[in-house]
Amino acid sequence: MKKLTIPNIVEKARQGEKLAMLTAYDATFGSLIDEAGIEMILVGDSLGQVVQGHNNTIPVTLDDVIYHTRCVTRAVKHTLVIADLPFMSYQASKTQALLTAGRALKEGFCEAVKLEGGMEMVETISSISQTGIPVMAHIGLKPQTIHQMGGYKIHGKTVAEAAKLIEEAKAMEEAGAFSIVLEGIAIETSREITKAVSIPTIGIGSGPYCSGQVLVIYDLLGMNPDFKPTFLKTYADGHKIVTDAVRAYRDDVKKGIFPTEAHGFHRK
Ligand code: KIV
Repeated sequence: MKKLTIPNIVEKARQGEKLAMLTAYDATFGSLIDEAGIEMILVGDSLGQVVQGHNNTIPVTLDDVIYHTRCVTRAVKHTLVIADLPFMSYQASKTQALLTAGRALKEGFCEAVKLEGGMEMVETISSISQTGIPVMAHIGLKPQTIHQMGGYKIHGKTVAEAAKLIEEAKAMEEAGAFSIVLEGIAIETSREITKAVSIPTIGIGSGPYCSGQVLVIYDLLGMNPDFKPTFLKTYADGHKIVTDAVRAYRDDVKKGIFPTEAHGFHRK
């Protein structure tokens, strides 16, 4: 199967096919997701929480994202890979954003970048995309602004907020974004945004009417039983599968059941 391109993905959405996107941070999951036929992998700055153990995405560095993007792109043959630009790697100036996006492609070997922001990011998106680097925008709940938001909140709940988000989405399309993540946006608003733009919208916590959906792979797999937000559907009890397997291994080792001679090598 050939590598999916941005035009392929945009065309699929135009034909009414829903787009599936997942995060990945390493070669093992990159390869599994690729094999399962997902359109896009995001090397999300959510790696700050699920890989690095931080409380939020703020501490993630550009070097971290590039490192994990390289791990994923080495393993992926078909799926389009997008690197998530971390906090303060693109906000300082258009030049900084351009150099950061360039590093993500040149060193991470991904095909596109994602960045969070509203109207203040329109010129930045335009400048990156005019350079030939595909940009996925990200509006609504923007985890990199957690301290300013005072927590994770749903956006677009009033008509006025909805109008602002629709304007932002249109401006991002005009600036050249190939797609927009809609995070934590009221269902009616994300539906209106999706109707208002001709590029695909990828929802998370934004209801069923986006052009596609994204989830963090560990959330989908149910790795953290304490994380049960309304927007999440888990597809496995990953926490139980892994802890049961590790306990069974521990018991086998302690009882001398593993390894046996069958797992070793005899002298000549
Ligand atoms: O970092 C991330 O994983 C994300 C997605 C959840 C959209 O930004």
